[in-house]
Amino acid sequence: MTHAAQNPVFCALDTTSLAQAWTWALAVKPFVGGLKVGLEFFNSNGPDGVRKIVDLGLPVFTDLKLHDIPNTVSGGIRAVLPLGVSIVNVHCAGGAAMMRAAAEAAASAGARRPKIIGVTVLTSLDQSDLQATGVTGSPSDHVLRLATLAKASGLDGVVCAAHEIAMLRRELGSDFLLVVPGIRPAGAASTDQKRVMTPKEAHELGADILVVGRPITAAADPAAAARAIRDELFKGPA
Ligand code: C5P
Repeated sequence: MTHAAQNPVFCALDTTSLAQAWTWALAVKPFVGGLKVGLEFFNSNGPDGVRKIVDLGLPVFTDLKLHDIPNTVSGGIRAVLPLGVSIVNVHCAGGAAMMRAAAEAAASAGARRPKIIGVTVLTSLDQSDLQATGVTGSPSDHVLRLATLAKASGLDGVVCAAHEIAMLRRELGSDFLLVVPGIRPAGAASTDQKRVMTPKEAHELGADILVVGRPITAAADPAAAARAIRDELFKGPA
């Protein structure tokens, strides 16, 4: 994660339009450490669209949140390897065998292997949402259970909420990537994210990657918004 180690911000290009994603990516490229494409983008633009974003030269995270039987997830990971992306994710809820299959599939790419990250609990879910799915206990208990399983199954890290960074660092050590969405610069609307934190707070707590979407892409000037986040991270408050 050379570039991302310098700038932890990955901008989420959440759109069906390749032209829009490309415009955002070019605008924010000088101010971010990577780019993330997810379901909206992939289902509209497919592998060719991902290749175009990879060709911009920043690390790319394909946020496809794979969750299926181990054989199918393994095949899905192998199919993404030729695209040259840096990070791929799977749902930890798919279980240990599925996560091991994902890690083994990635390893087949050798030195160019992407990091495999586990999705613990979506940051849009709070305790009552989790209870409705049959998960008792707090979201952080569930995150720790899933993240521990992810590490034991050979994943490189997890997606978690900012409020779980300290706990996961303590329990799982420093050599485990923590990818944190639900990031909102001070004063920004939280929209549908229920567990949010500012970029600087999350970075100082030890997040490796900060996923930031709408605070950049919905801004009147996405480049200025990305630059302001970078400046907040590296130059301190104005
Ligand atoms: O626009 P916003 O900053 O909320 O975007 C957050 C991005 O991170 C979205 O692309 C969303 O799919 C993704 N994400 C998330 N929560 C997770 C995993 C990924 O919000 N647990």
